[in-house]
Amino acid sequence: MIISGKDLSKSLKEALKCHVAELEAKHGTTPFLAVILVGEDPGSVSYVTGKAKAATEVGIRNTTMRYPETITEEELLAIIDKLNADDDVDGILVQLPLPKHIDEQKVIAAIRPEKDVDSFHPVNVANLWLKLPGFKPCTPKGIIKLLDSAGVEIEGKEAVVVGRSNIVGLPVAKLLLDRNATVTVAHSRTKNLGEVTRRADILVVAIGRERFISADMIKPGAVVIDVGVNRDSRTGKLCGDVDFEHAEAVASAITPVPGGVGPMTITCLMENTVESFERKVTK
Ligand code: GUN
Repeated sequence: MIISGKDLSKSLKEALKCHVAELEAKHGTTPFLAVILVGEDPGSVSYVTGKAKAATEVGIRNTTMRYPETITEEELLAIIDKLNADDDVDGILVQLPLPKHIDEQKVIAAIRPEKDVDSFHPVNVANLWLKLPGFKPCTPKGIIKLLDSAGVEIEGKEAVVVGRSNIVGLPVAKLLLDRNATVTVAHSRTKNLGEVTRRADILVVAIGRERFISADMIKPGAVVIDVGVNRDSRTGKLCGDVDFEHAEAVASAITPVPGGVGPMTITCLMENTVESFERKVTK
């Protein structure tokens, strides 16, 4: 089975659009998302375009603020301060990565946690690990929704996460643990990686290398979630971290790239923006 993030996103966005229309009827306004893009990295430009498009689709007001690579950290922090102080702004997203002369962690920490719809701020990271209320990070949240939509039972299953990034690997491991999976976090320096991944009933791969996971590293019948977004060095097309062509026959279910996790990340960002607005208007 192919687990389509594109299809699930479409239905979730339709539901969200209705919800936003109800909010507008009740409160006379809609959520507002501010997206900050520094530089012109083609990957980042494409992500930011997708986020703006999805926001407009569901009725979330949005702006994309584009700045040159040469912007200083101080200037960027001043822009964030303004957005923090503007009560009309519900979500602030700074597209990563930032240029080397800017301290990414400092920028993330400058966003008010209540507007940090990416859920990258230290307070929101702590809330996740302490099981306190707050935003869930978008890609991990989207992965759990994909598993649920495919009817995959998580409780008691062996889940292996390949990758230990702050954005995906670590938080998805935590969400799987919260659903009572037995979780292993593997990474690029794990010894005998294939032995570890072959234990997985649920295999989540977020390492960022094309064909990093070959079919023989997958247990027959496993559910495979491929978070990778790479350029295929043979065809130039987008591809994931899993050798999809061969893995498809071994796995019981697998996400494609594109059309798998990517659209879910964007949809969950929209949900978080609406959640932020709702917390604001019910305060
Ligand atoms: N760069 C790669 N993934 C993400 C993401 O989910 N959010 C932001 N802001 N930047 C990213």
